Amino acid sequence: MIPGYLFYRMGEYSVGNLPPKMPTTTLHPDIQEVLFDADVLRARIKELAASLSQDYQGKDPVLVGVLKGSALFLADLVREMTIPCTIDFVSMASYEGESSTGEVRLLLDLRSNPHGKHVVIVEDIVDTGLSLSSLMENIKAKRPASVEICVLLDKKETRKIPVSTKYVGFEIPNKFVIGYGLDYNEKYRQLPYVGILKDSAI
Ligand code: XMP
Ligand code: MG
Repeated sequence: MIPGYLFYRMGEYSVGNLPPKMPTTTLHPDIQEVLFDADVLRARIKELAASLSQDYQGKDPVLVGVLKGSALFLADLVREMTIPCTIDFVSMASYEGESSTGEVRLLLDLRSNPHGKHVVIVEDIVDTGLSLSSLMENIKAKRPASVEICVLLDKKETRKIPVSTKYVGFEIPNKFVIGYGLDYNEKYRQLPYVGILKDSAI
């Protein structure tokens, strides 16, 4: 039986009578500058998805999202892909507030076994490279058929350990960015754009 409230909502939001959307151009008061707005992100993610769909044709890749930052990116990326793929997640901790602790801990491991699979790690941002190189080692030890990295944002200048990022959305300068999954003390993940925080918000 369908609950009454669902019926009501289905009727209320039928096609042609959709709820009003929040204007995405409204800037959060803590944001100093928008680096990539929703349209720019969407267009670039479509290109990344096209590259992945081409490169992994017939390979049924598993896209491994690194929680929590990559959740929005992964969700949009897979919806633009035109080949079959599966998703899985890991969770790591390396950041406290605004700066790296330099230590990487795996908080949540893969549910699926990557052995013999084509793995694509999907991450929001690469900074020092510590998190991704540690995750790479961890996954490689499980003998996947291949493993590559797809990252939305790359802070090239701050790298301490080299990591090979085959798929990169945008290269960015060494600024602390938030939005579109990225947080400052867990806030701002829901913003539809990537931006720089005002000093007054830090
Ligand atoms: P490393 O240094 O290991 O860092 O490459 C990767 C992780 O650090 C976080 N990170 C950021 N998070 N804004 C954020 O919200 C940033 O500018 C930023 N830089 C690094 C992020 O969790 C990433 O997975
Ligand atoms: Mg992250």
